[in-house]
Amino acid sequence: MSPLYYVGLQPELSTLDTAIDSDGILSVVTDGYDVLSVPITNLHFRSRVSRISQSVSDPAIVPHISPPIYPEVNFAPNSTYAQHVLGICAKWIELDSTDPRIAGVSAQILKHELSYASFCGLSYVIVPGPTRRNNVALYAESLNAALAAVPYINIIVHLAMAETGVEDPSGPDVPAPVDAMSIWDIWNSVRTICDYSSRLSVGLQLPPKLPPQTVVSRWFAEPITVLFISANIFLSNPKGYPVLSKAHQFLLFKYMKIKPYTILQDVREATQIRTSSKLPSKQDESAYLIYIRHLHTILPSPTAVEKFGRGYQDYLQNPLQPLRDNLESGTYEVFEKDPVKYAQYEKAVFGALSERGPNPNGQPVIVAVVGAGRGPLIACALRASERANVPIFAYAVEKNPNAYTYLLQRKELQWQSNVEIVFTDMRSWSPTHKVDIMVSELLGSFGDNELSPECLDGVQRVLKSNGIMIPQSYSSHFIPAMSPKIFSSIKSQNKEDIMNTPYVVMLQAVDLLAMEIKQAWEFRHPCPYLRANSQWPASHRINDLSQNDDSTATVKRDTPFDIGNEHNYRHVTARFSIESRGVMHGFVGYFESVLYGDVELSTRPDTINKKSKDMVSWFPIWFPISTPLYVPDDAEIEISIWRKTDNRKVWYEWSVETFVLVPVPGPGSDNRDSIASASASPARAISSPTKRVRLGCSKLHNPGGKYSSMLL
Ligand SMILES: C[S@@+](CC[C@H](N)C(=O)[O-])C[C@H]1O[C@@H](n2cnc3c(N)ncnc32)[C@H](O)[C@@H]1O
Repeated sequence: MSPLYYVGLQPELSTLDTAIDSDGILSVVTDGYDVLSVPITNLHFRSRVSRISQSVSDPAIVPHISPPIYPEVNFAPNSTYAQHVLGICAKWIELDSTDPRIAGVSAQILKHELSYASFCGLSYVIVPGPTRRNNVALYAESLNAALAAVPYINIIVHLAMAETGVEDPSGPDVPAPVDAMSIWDIWNSVRTICDYSSRLSVGLQLPPKLPPQTVVSRWFAEPITVLFISANIFLSNPKGYPVLSKAHQFLLFKYMKIKPYTILQDVREATQIRTSSKLPSKQDESAYLIYIRHLHTILPSPTAVEKFGRGYQDYLQNPLQPLRDNLESGTYEVFEKDPVKYAQYEKAVFGALSERGPNPNGQPVIVAVVGAGRGPLIACALRASERANVPIFAYAVEKNPNAYTYLLQRKELQWQSNVEIVFTDMRSWSPTHKVDIMVSELLGSFGDNELSPECLDGVQRVLKSNGIMIPQSYSSHFIPAMSPKIFSSIKSQNKEDIMNTPYVVMLQAVDLLAMEIKQAWEFRHPCPYLRANSQWPASHRINDLSQNDDSTATVKRDTPFDIGNEHNYRHVTARFSIESRGVMHGFVGYFESVLYGDVELSTRPDTINKKSKDMVSWFPIWFPISTPLYVPDDAEIEISIWRKTDNRKVWYEWSVETFVLVPVPGPGSDNRDSIASASASPARAISSPTKRVRLGCSKLHNPGGKYSSMLL
């Protein structure tokens, strides 16, 4: 059985001057490690390379290096242990050297080592990261060429999290900040030049002092295969056992959820230092491994959302279209597993019933659940009625024939006479009595994307003039984000429609680029526009059990599209401030809804705990952009999004523009708008005037609903 979490060992180089045989590897595995990271070649190879390099005197000539041969390699092929070995590429190569001879020789060595590792059946090779900020293109080109030359191997680029000296300013030591994102920046260039190769990932070195949180979460969005932990960064607990600081533990917990291999380094050296410094030595070399395994066993339990979304992280799903399609029972069953959503609905119906009170004439209050599914909201309404002591008569309106059959069974077995099941599209429903409280749950991940506005507009005519709709409103919210993983998976399918379609996705490897999520738009029910423009001709009479002023109401069976759907068109352009640079691959959408009064739902990460903690029914929505947009520090992203309709369908279009705020010399800022305007940041505007310079923009996605739309 495979372990839950892989821990490996990287032995000190001095122990690896001689080749490792299968016994050596298996002994490490029997010591409790899952993998051993081993340099592919050894000092014999290095000596030969340096002899050949020195023999060529012309600095313009790159000498030819032939592949390593026995005994220049550290292991031989052996299928029984290949899965336990991660190859390490020679640390002395310099793919980004400014000396063309060194760079050229290094590129040859990389290919030879990858090729030998692949021959031995290894899947991964760890390659040292670039050694300088410049020459990144040269480094990346060598990786790209090696990936092309050796088709089945995966490269792990070994990188520091940040430059030395970049520590979390909230920590005890506060050194002058260097450039917290510089290493990430280099990595971003490397993988961009390598065209987001799925065979390229990161091996991240855990530093003794952690960088700021923005850097930690940035790496969390990257494809990390290995987390390297030197035994030298461990502290000692009072009993003398090696432990990690609280901050490191917290970070490790976060990373353990995405399951990279942890490779322990310097174990022998750290153990010897502890023993010789007379630290309480209740430890041997295995203490570090035992500790990491222990941390894994005490991983904080997953949140309700993590449990619910297990297996779906970063997996793109097409949003449901419950109006066009008839949902399966299993899909309804998944909805019904969310206790929070139904508790909120019950609270909302209870609030509305309590405020309204029973009818003075003793007739029941008419409640309609429109889009009843398998009936959970009918059950909520009945419970709320009992608790509020307000008798109700409930309509369950559903257009899915299979769900209708299920509702009929529930009526017979559970609800009996005070519920009527109606099989119809709500937009053409003609009840015999007008409705006091209309309850619906037609919300999608972006609020209105399952056509709640259009369906509810179509049924609003059967609501009494003083009737209540639950939800009373919902709004859509969004924020620009970076997710190389989602971008790669969309890109690998290489289809235009995929780049122009919003997806529902349980986000994991994602970094939100802006500090603030913004509201796009809102829909309110009953729709004020329709209330003010209800010019439908009389065609149908219905009775009102409560005999109030709505007792003989006139309704029309037609949909409200007689007066068009333009009132459900929306557009917004929102500006987001970006502090730390990054790459925008798309934006994330959420929604909030006021069910009734102060009873609300939210999927926004910053308000969900306050409004509907542990609600799991909706994953966020992801709007991709077809070409990633790089944004520097102190930049701005403007997202424009439209909700459009042509009476047959509804669709979204979106585009993105990026700007950088550049300091301008001299007094006052450049206030010319449209092309350049003053900084949005008051602090910055006071200290130094800035000019807003356009950096780039995306194309308009999904024009005319060509690639994705919701059918009415
Ligand atoms: C998201 S499901 C919610 C079902 C249920 N209320 C629940 O909470 O489990 C939406 C339901 O509305 C139904 N529906 C969507 N549009 C409708 C329409 N125009 N008329 C009647 N039912 C509709 C769908 O068939 C589906 O059963």
